[in-house]
Formats: sequence, structure tokens, C-alpha cells
Amino acid sequence: MAERLKIAAIVLAAGSGSRMNSQEKKQFMDLNGLPVLAWSLLAFEENPAVDDVILVTGEEDLEKALKICLSLKLSKVKNIVAGGDLRFRSVYNGLLALSPETDYVLIHDAARPLITQEIIRNCIKGAVMKRACVAAVKEKNTIKKVDEKGYAIETIDRSSLYEIQTPQAFDYKLILRAYYNLKKTIEEYHPDVSKITDDAVIVENMTDCRVSMVEGDYKNIKITTPEDLVIARALMHT
Ligand code: CTP
Ligand code: MG
Repeated sequence: MAERLKIAAIVLAAGSGSRMNSQEKKQFMDLNGLPVLAWSLLAFEENPAVDDVILVTGEEDLEKALKICLSLKLSKVKNIVAGGDLRFRSVYNGLLALSPETDYVLIHDAARPLITQEIIRNCIKGAVMKRACVAAVKEKNTIKKVDEKGYAIETIDRSSLYEIQTPQAFDYKLILRAYYNLKKTIEEYHPDVSKITDDAVIVENMTDCRVSMVEGDYKNIKITTPEDLVIARALMHT
């Protein structure tokens, strides 16, 4: 019988949540009875294919995060590690905390608490079949490119546009190599790293592997600003 694949998830909760403008960081705010980050942790706990979960939080929140994991009896959370100043640095810390035996890793924003079992399944399947995939939904709005004076230059064909979500799922060795190459590039060329907002872009630029889209969900919103929390609360009841 073929050996079972080892699948891990990294849940990212080390951001400062500046656009939320709240006293408490958004990943710890209450969402229908549980902290926002708990919903993602529970979703991975519940998925039979996922073996290990690594939670990444700010250094100052490690203890608080551990208390949440203990109170929810999360048996798959193997480690809670401190993140970095930028998202990709938090991801790298999470990747380094994974077991070397990991075959595939799902990287997920704790700020997306409405993740479903179906999305997790789609991402695992995509990673196994294509080595690199991201959950995404078709763009619903009309998107225009605008010049610096505020005039429309181009209306981009909507059928070719996808809105990228998380999880983003990868062959573990591939994503490690991508991050290692990125680290070397940063050390040598000091590029502007502020635009690296997802992991797929690192694989696209640092390896020859192409990234494929798998079905996300319009409900899988990211909590960024206060109104998103209102929407998430409502969506949880649907
Ligand atoms: N994140 C992280 N480490 C960082 C930055 C972000 O782990 N240095 C995580 C956040 O906690 C969040 C996810 O990445 O779950 C997506 O980031 P975003 O929505 O931008 O959250 P914040 O960076 O916290 O918010 P803001 O950009 O408004 O400050
Ligand atoms: Mg951010």
C-alpha cells in the first residue's frame, strides 16, 4: 500500500491588523463566540487529511495563542512560532517549523475564518496534482486600470481575472526552495519586498513551477476592515 502523504497547514496570525483600527488585533477579536483565528484552526483540526498545524503569531501573543489552542483541545497544532515583520517572513518561520517529512503544506491567513472543508480538499488535491495551487474565485466586478491622474486607461477582460484567496498549497520542497531562493535574492539585490502579499507570487518568480487555481468560495472573505467582521458574522449563519 502506498505510504500516506503527510499534509501540514500553516495558520498565519502574526499581523498587526492596522487597517482594522481596533484595540485588539483582528485575529483575536470575537467572531460568533470564538476568536477569529480559532475558526481556521478548527477547520484544519477537523480535516482528516491534515496531520500537523503550525500557528504563527506575534512574539507577544505566543502565550495567548497557546491558551486558545489548549482550551479548544487542538491536537494537531504541533508548534506555535513567532512571525516576522512582513507576511512572507512569517510564512518562512512557519515553513522552518514544519516536520522535514512534510509532503504538502497549506498556507492560510487566520484572517479568513470562513474557510470550509471543501476548500481545504480542493487545495490538497490541487497541490498533489499540480504542486502549487491557490484557492480563488472569479472576479465579479469590472476592473479598470487607471493612470496617475485618475483617468481610465484600460478595462481588463473580466473572464481572465481571479480573486486570490488562501489557502495556497504547495509541495513542501518546492515552497521551501522558493523561499530559500527569495532569501538569497533579497540578500544580493535588496529588492522592494513590500509587494510580496502572497506565496504564489514567490513560487511564480523563484521557481519554474506554474501556479494553478482551485475553487475557493465567495464566502471565504478576509477580515481586513471593520465592516468585514460584520459580513463574516452574518455569513457564519448561512
Ligand atoms: N500576517 C502575518 N505576519 C505578518 C503580516 C501578516 O502572519 N507580518 C498574517 C495576518 O495575521 C493575516 C494574514 O497574514 O492573517 C493576511 O494579512 P493581512 O490581512 O494584511 O493582516 P495584517 O497584516 O494583520 O493587517 P494590516 O495589513 O491591515 O496591518
Ligand atoms: Mg498586512
